[in-house]
Amino acid sequence: MNEIYKTDALIAENIDAYLETHQHKTMLRFITCGSVDDGKSTLIGRLLYDSKMIFEDQLATLEADSRRVGTQGEAIDFALLVDGLAAEREQGITIDVAYRFFATEKRKFIVADTPGHEQYTRNMVTGASTADLAVILIDARKGVLTQTRRHSYLAHLLGIRHIVLAVNKMDLVGYDHAVFDAIVAEYRAFSESIGIAEFTPVPISGLAGDNITTRSDKTPWYDGPVLLEHLETVELDQSANQHKPFRMPVQWVNRPNLDFRGFSGTIAAGQVRPGDEIRVLPSGKTSRISRIVAYDGDLDLAVAGQAVTLCFEDEIDCSRGQVITAAKSPVEVADQFEASVIWMDEEEMVPGRAYWLKVGPQTVSATVAHPKYQVNVNTMEHLAAKTLDLNAIGVANITTDRDIPFTAYEESRDLGGFILIDKMTNRTVGAGLIHFALRRAQNIHWQATDIDRTHHANLKNQKPMVLWMTGLSGSGKSTIANIVEMKLARMNRHTFLLDGDNVRHGLNKDLGFTDADRVENIRRVGEVARLMTDAGLIVITAFISPFRSEREMVRGMMQPGEFMEVFIDTPLEEAERRDVKGLYAKARAGQLKNFTGIDSPYEPPEAPQIRIDTTRMTAEQAADLIIEKLIP
Ligand code: ADX
Repeated sequence: MNEIYKTDALIAENIDAYLETHQHKTMLRFITCGSVDDGKSTLIGRLLYDSKMIFEDQLATLEADSRRVGTQGEAIDFALLVDGLAAEREQGITIDVAYRFFATEKRKFIVADTPGHEQYTRNMVTGASTADLAVILIDARKGVLTQTRRHSYLAHLLGIRHIVLAVNKMDLVGYDHAVFDAIVAEYRAFSESIGIAEFTPVPISGLAGDNITTRSDKTPWYDGPVLLEHLETVELDQSANQHKPFRMPVQWVNRPNLDFRGFSGTIAAGQVRPGDEIRVLPSGKTSRISRIVAYDGDLDLAVAGQAVTLCFEDEIDCSRGQVITAAKSPVEVADQFEASVIWMDEEEMVPGRAYWLKVGPQTVSATVAHPKYQVNVNTMEHLAAKTLDLNAIGVANITTDRDIPFTAYEESRDLGGFILIDKMTNRTVGAGLIHFALRRAQNIHWQATDIDRTHHANLKNQKPMVLWMTGLSGSGKSTIANIVEMKLARMNRHTFLLDGDNVRHGLNKDLGFTDADRVENIRRVGEVARLMTDAGLIVITAFISPFRSEREMVRGMMQPGEFMEVFIDTPLEEAERRDVKGLYAKARAGQLKNFTGIDSPYEPPEAPQIRIDTTRMTAEQAADLIIEKLIP
């Protein structure tokens, strides 16, 4: 995820030197879920402190702070330590995830600490998407809460295989075995219902230090692992991934000179050896591995998690974003999927809008359909939903503009997880997990026809073109479009005029004026206009088309140079003053909802090919100007 990468870079910068001394050790990434009240900060503080990996200067401030605050019973308030570090890290991090590092004799650790509140689903998703394990904190006095369920659901959804149920504050319930057992039983019933196969319950006290780094003598009835011991020994995703079929997405093609051509990336799953037969997807071409090149020489074996450069025996095509797999066990390729989508932006998702979809190293254009349902993250209920807003999770079909190699997220986070990026703002607006490909994608192919678009255009003796007029209602689009078409007809050009009011009576009569419906309106009109250019026509369109995203989408549908954006620039006051159809008056009176310019936005073009200021020229003059540009 964009933001994750940013944070990762930050981590790398800050702790490179520190981690170097622990280089030989494996690394566990985990996430802690719970609220301050559950004792999360205290627990993390204790892990950091007891593993003796707190930097000297931080320790000094901590001791000073604790003295000042005066905590009961304990010399040091560990919560202070964590909150202090958080303040430090907040600068420069846009999301509310704090990462902390510590190491023991056996392993090094990165803890993602996310706030427990519901609004922070986005942050938890960010922290959880790279974690091997989640520590779900429970206050022994309170038991399983709504937020416990929410955190568990998210952790499971995001593919975390190891769940620790840390029943905290055992000291406050007298280390009562029965209390612990009752909480574990309640959690087991819930976790099974959402598909969590197993979890590790540990009775702890963050404040007193029971069963965190050392075994407590207050819980003789407990014979499971202490928390740190479990963290040190649990199987890492990376190790588990080594036993899966080989997959490596290509990050870049390494071609320093004509004698060397290698494909670099990090192995997502499995192992690879020289001589192995491989297949490149989506092309399906096969070859064998000739060399595995690493930083310090050639390798006989490389495994999941390693960054390598692979060379093939044959010169087959392979580029960035493609996936190299075991020849006998390739990944799937498709352009339509069902996926879980987690919305992370203040601005709600617009079904039908094209977003950038980044899966592994590849970025494609994609649209999300209307959600099939939204999940209530507190009750796991499925709710009907028209769209997804900030922190909402839903299931929807996704269509990409080309085939992509993928696996289900369950099988590989690298090949089945994606983020959605807004094309206009470049913000990461959502994250997604692929469930499966839709059959349709595999069964519909392009039909090659003998009479192609060039043939159609040549017969008409013209260059196909789309003249896309955009502007407010009543700005003069239809009037100008009509004159342009008449003038072109007089010049023996073959044209067709698509007009908003007319198309909405037929093809698009099922659409209204919500954002999503407007997006779909423009998408369909774009597709129709494209077919008409294939037929060799000059297409003139007159639609408000209020959003930049969709105008850009339509531009992208056309052949290069066959799309001309014409901004009919009439200020709102002027359009409203003219009010040809009386609609502005209605909208102002509250009788018409979502009216463009009144209570629905219009995003003016930033760089239209032609801008017509209708307050300065007549429709006739405007049409001449457009034709001049079109046929120089
Ligand atoms: S668009 O926003 O989806 O591009 P389109 O151009 O098809 O709109 O249709 C706009 C026309 O529909 C307007 O010229 C107006 O006559 C009519 N109309 C009815 N309701 C609305 C509304 N709420 N907002 C804008 N136009 C509306």
